[in-house]
Amino acid sequence: MPDDRIQHGAPAAAPLAASRPPAGLHGSVRVPGDKSISHRALMLGALAVGRTEISGLLEGEDVVATAAAMRALGATVERLGEGRWRVDGVGIGGLAEPADVIDYGNSGTGARLLLGILATHPIASFITGDASLRSRPMRRVTEPLSRFGARFAAREGGRLPVAVTGARDPVPIEYTLPVASAQVKSAVLLAGLNTPGETTVVEPQPTRDHTERMLGHFGANLRVEPLAQGGRRITLVGQPELAAAPIAVPGDISSAAFPLVAGLVVPGSEVTVEGVGLNPSRTGLLASLAEMGADLAYLDERIEGGEPVADLRVRAGALRGADIPASRAPSMIDEYPVLAVAAACARGRTVMRGLGELRVKESDRLAGTAEGLAACGVKVAVEGDDLVVEGDGGAPAGGGLIETRLDHRIAMAFLVLGLATRSPVRIDDARPIATSFPGFTTLMNRLGAGFAAIG
Ligand code: S3P
Repeated sequence: MPDDRIQHGAPAAAPLAASRPPAGLHGSVRVPGDKSISHRALMLGALAVGRTEISGLLEGEDVVATAAAMRALGATVERLGEGRWRVDGVGIGGLAEPADVIDYGNSGTGARLLLGILATHPIASFITGDASLRSRPMRRVTEPLSRFGARFAAREGGRLPVAVTGARDPVPIEYTLPVASAQVKSAVLLAGLNTPGETTVVEPQPTRDHTERMLGHFGANLRVEPLAQGGRRITLVGQPELAAAPIAVPGDISSAAFPLVAGLVVPGSEVTVEGVGLNPSRTGLLASLAEMGADLAYLDERIEGGEPVADLRVRAGALRGADIPASRAPSMIDEYPVLAVAAACARGRTVMRGLGELRVKESDRLAGTAEGLAACGVKVAVEGDDLVVEGDGGAPAGGGLIETRLDHRIAMAFLVLGLATRSPVRIDDARPIATSFPGFTTLMNRLGAGFAAIG
């Protein structure tokens, strides 16, 4: 049996430098599986009755932490080969008390979704994470989950580590999301699984719907009603029997974003990313790049495993500034650092509106993106919750040393910037990249990036 205890990174920080490849980037690549779908596949597989076979699973550290968590709770989770995993579920209500603290590493999605599951299982558990995760707000989930009857003891501000005692007799709730967060929506719906009666989530702004799609795929009874202004009312009938079902995970658009933007901003490039998941709740980046004048083609559009998928081809060319509305933020929330890189290489002003949520990601991405761009000679400002970037259409200066602050997407975005700048860009630590995109450096170097380790 192949070993699934994947080791990523080195014990010491791994600084990396990016400089402009004179010949541009060329080739066709496939990015790892979608992180959101991968977490959910393991979790719902563990709660189903029977055997779930998964292909294309992301084997990044965040998802490996979910595999470990589901095992600690009694499910049998095995790695069969690259991206191929098998889960033997215990059924809703069948989770066992974990023998030790669950360490979720860097993964906010994993921790928050798991808290939802634990909230309605009458067992005690303890969750912690790395310094980044321990600084992130958890009250956004513990507050609604308490209403089911779960009890939480957390640090100041509702931060990890947290002790959870799940409700023995959970009561269903109706909850309106105060922030546009698929993690909060999903935590409430997952808590609703082991709750009698109907659990309802109202989301005034639509967020990614992978939880709803996968619950339907496993046979749960779920109603989704559209609301005015694009929101949704989602009602789950509790205590279904989830039936194990195969899952094919598409390529992660949030990972594809990096080679795609690199292909657009490095002169002379032509890059294709194959098999990218194009769930409409995730494609805000592509709409924004199109508005900026990107040469972006959708090839071989198809449906795979219930999700729309295509090969995306980009060619480098002139980009122009654009006004990105706040309403688009949930559909591209993880893509702003790399969109800001595209904006830095564009001619004119790009305004990215309504980015308050970026402050509570793996790091404060609003500040981190602005500081990093400024360190590379880009005209940038944070105005309230908006990020404003102004480019002259030429190559930005570069030359900055970027602190990645345990944030994979800051690390990757600034490596992409360094491929387009006049002087190289360095990042202080590439190790966080393994949380979502193992193999990033190798894949980019295969396209011609020439990322180089620095001592
Ligand atoms: C995710 C939702 C988003 C996103 C995260 C993954 C998910 O977070 O930033 O990377 O899988 O549900 P929020 O829903 O909190 O915005």
